[in-house]
Amino acid sequence: MQGVTVVDHPLVQHKLTLMRDRTRSTKGFRQLLNEIGMLLLYEITRDLPIEPVEIETPLTRMTAPQLAGKKLVLAPILRAGVGFLDGMLDLVPSARVAHIGLYRDPETLSAVEYYFKAPSDLADRLVLVLDPMLATANSAIAAVDRLKERGARELRIACLLAAPEGIRNFQGMHPDVPIWTAAIDERLDEHGYIVPGLGDAGDRMFGTH
Ligand code: PRP
Ligand code: URA
Repeated sequence: MQGVTVVDHPLVQHKLTLMRDRTRSTKGFRQLLNEIGMLLLYEITRDLPIEPVEIETPLTRMTAPQLAGKKLVLAPILRAGVGFLDGMLDLVPSARVAHIGLYRDPETLSAVEYYFKAPSDLADRLVLVLDPMLATANSAIAAVDRLKERGARELRIACLLAAPEGIRNFQGMHPDVPIWTAAIDERLDEHGYIVPGLGDAGDRMFGTH
């Protein structure tokens, strides 16, 4: 599927299976989400630009690669997107963080914004939107709308599970924003939940329901 990368690394797939299991504890679910976040980020940042720098090793001088440009922005959609954050920050500790508070109206399935705080120079940075679940994609679309409105030009989506309906919807609105996911599931049910899915990611992360 164009514009979508399924991260089919065995470690990611194994951990995702553990997360889908309804008996997984809140603690286990949260830990696995962080671990997968780190592995996804490794793939998503594979093509980041690098530049040569002069350094001195204990033995000699050399020219070595380092990341070029401004630090990237991690933009978790609250609540569940926060589950990716610690794992990703372990990998890129100096990343900036934009928090996007959205919830899905259970009747209309449209996204309702309640919080937004982002660095002011989004235009100069790669922005990674984090949300484990791309269901209808209304939340991801609203998040990207808002980030673009604030100047973001280069964006990517990191999710754990995507529904085919959500991918189509998202790509219809933001064809310029590529998606990375651990799996594309079968479909949405009549309540907009991903099937087979893993249930409500926020509830499973925080032990609410
Ligand atoms: C869930 C999930 C996504 C959204 C996905 O959030 O974490 O943000 O639904 O659904 P969509 O693709 O159909 O928009 P929810 O609204 O349950 O909020 P929460 O994370 O605060 O529980
Ligand atoms: N949000 C979730 O947390 N899970 C779904 O399956 C759909 C939306």
